[in-house]
Amino acid sequence: MAGVTDAPFRQLAWRFGAGHVVGEMVSAKADLWHTSKSRLRRQSVVGISPVAVQIAGGDPATIADAARRHWRDGAEIVDINFGCPARKVCRKAAGSALLADEDLVARIIAAAVAAVPIPITVKIRSGYSLERRNGLTIAGIAESEGAAAVTVHGRTRACRFLGAAEYDTVAAIKDKVSIPVIANGDISDAAQVHQVMTGTGVDAVMIGRAALGAPWLLGQIAGVTGVLSLAEKFDTMIEHLHAGQQFYGDAGVRIMRKHMMWYFEKLDGFGGAEERRALVRTFNTLIEAEAQLQFLQQLALDVRVVDAAA
Ligand SMILES: Cc1cc2nc3c(=O)[nH]c(=O)nc-3n(C[C@H](O)[C@H](O)[C@H](O)COP(=O)(O)O)c2cc1C
Repeated sequence: MAGVTDAPFRQLAWRFGAGHVVGEMVSAKADLWHTSKSRLRRQSVVGISPVAVQIAGGDPATIADAARRHWRDGAEIVDINFGCPARKVCRKAAGSALLADEDLVARIIAAAVAAVPIPITVKIRSGYSLERRNGLTIAGIAESEGAAAVTVHGRTRACRFLGAAEYDTVAAIKDKVSIPVIANGDISDAAQVHQVMTGTGVDAVMIGRAALGAPWLLGQIAGVTGVLSLAEKFDTMIEHLHAGQQFYGDAGVRIMRKHMMWYFEKLDGFGGAEERRALVRTFNTLIEAEAQLQFLQQLALDVRVVDAAA
């Protein structure tokens, strides 16, 4: 997830037991990679394998070039984004806008597959629009052009993030292709994982938003991490905050605010929702890295004192 699954977040999710993590989407245009934002987005984490990156673009030669460069830089899987509905991406004929042009999708995948000796995977939506739900066709194209796996977000491009994800198209895709199929969309707990996996027969599920402010969730669903106490959640928040501040330097104070907001939103059992929103507002007034850390450390201490008294 662009703006979320940076190196510090992936590191935590991996440590808690995620089975696979993918870097933030980057443009396939290598001449845009010199900015510090792009450099940080492309940074891999020592110890996480396979190293999976995601690229977005609409030109087969550019995609092939990006795949080659990522492979030379150590990527072990290159994923191509055919799912992003963001205007900034679609205006450039990339992401989910490409679902309208099946021939171009085929040429993009073929070019990437020919360019590198590592797996090329694709992330798609269930189709371009409700009227043109062509995810099945796109998945078939992906397989015949040599993609190693396909992740399907059960919404069309036109749906963006509205409505509920549907899994009929995902099931039909699983039925049609023999490469691994990964289901995605609105999955947030083990029961849903079970329901989607048994209902569709997919090989795996991908979880996005439910892991915001809960990097432990993936390992928990996988059964390798137990339920965290409030104190352990605060310890994770402090670790994440510190890692983000180190990773982003001066920008870290601002960038880490959204992560901390997501954690607080999900801290059930730690005051009420309004109380937690007030804490977020106070946290957001802090402009020094050290002050942010101290704020969380004090809350962690309070939780431990309450725990000890109980
Ligand atoms: C903030 C944000 C950033 C995202 N960035 C990407 C991205 O870079 N690449 C991608 O394939 N999908 C991206 N997505 C879409 C998610 O991967 C996923 O398909 C979608 O959120 C549905 O799954 P979920 O309900 O588990 O979140 C993003 C979603 C969000 C909310």
